[in-house]
Amino acid sequence: MEQLLARLEEYRQMVDAALDDFLPRADMTPATLHEAMRYATLGGGKRIRPALVLMTGELFGVANADAMPAACAIEIVHTYSLVHDDLPAMDNDDLRRGRLTCHKAYDEATAILVGDALLTLAFGLLASRYPPPAAVDLIQIVARAAGHAGMISGQYMDLEGERRRLDDRDTIELMYALKTSELFVAACRVGARLGGAKAEATAKVAAFGKDVGLLFQTVDDILDETASAEQLGKNVRQDAAAGKSTIIMMRGVVGAQDQAAVYAKRADDNLADFGAAAATLLLLPQYLLTRQK
Ligand code: IPE
Ligand code: IPE
Ligand code: MG
Ligand code: MG
Ligand code: MG
Repeated sequence: MEQLLARLEEYRQMVDAALDDFLPRADMTPATLHEAMRYATLGGGKRIRPALVLMTGELFGVANADAMPAACAIEIVHTYSLVHDDLPAMDNDDLRRGRLTCHKAYDEATAILVGDALLTLAFGLLASRYPPPAAVDLIQIVARAAGHAGMISGQYMDLEGERRRLDDRDTIELMYALKTSELFVAACRVGARLGGAKAEATAKVAAFGKDVGLLFQTVDDILDETASAEQLGKNVRQDAAAGKSTIIMMRGVVGAQDQAAVYAKRADDNLADFGAAAATLLLLPQYLLTRQK
């Protein structure tokens, strides 16, 4: 586990440096917009999704430097989703990554446009940093995951679940799969595509990504209930306050922990065929299961 933590820290530093480079300069006109894009993206964030791109890439022989633009594109899509997720019309949160949310530090209109600009930037990055055949595939992978048949449907179900209780396990799992796993699956698919992985191997890492995403959202919901704002860098007990339909409401914290352990085990089972090459990746679910922030 020490080994994984050290790797994640290395990835985080590499990703932060690359993001700094890919984002527009803060003095570009209009400066407030560009400053706000940088504010939302830099200076916080665990960078789990880009780490997954880099690790999956490594599994298929891709150098970190070659996977980095795609890793950053996924992190930029994720950051846009957080900026919009925090808006008053959605989760209405004031704190993100240990500081004011984008719409609180700036204003709502700026945060909406920051989200729009980040989402677009991510696709521009994929289009400009990879040769045409790979670029088209990468764009398709990310567009599917981030779009109406992926993350957006999940976010929509999450909001519907405030007004009307989603009260069966399958529906809640579907919501998590869409709002969170889709981007984790995309991270794994992107790594596999860059490494020219065959369909069977791609399917295995995609299944891993799905379970890791389900695990990640389940633990996010547990931490919302049990952790502190200092730990998480975001306000807690927000899901209950908003009346959201979550696995916690359905099964309680203990039931959710049991389910998270099932996802963690299932995640690793998908990688059985890769043997020692997947050793570091195999540690990720256990880490995400026990994370405290
Ligand atoms: C938060 O994601 C949103 C969820 C899908 C639960 P992270 O917990 O990865 O947020 P950052 O990027 O580290 O801030
Ligand atoms: C966010 O889920 C999922 C996204 C796709 C952004 P949450 O609403 O639970 O994420 P946090 O708790 O605000 O980070
Ligand atoms: Mg939300
Ligand atoms: Mg939220
Ligand atoms: Mg949450």
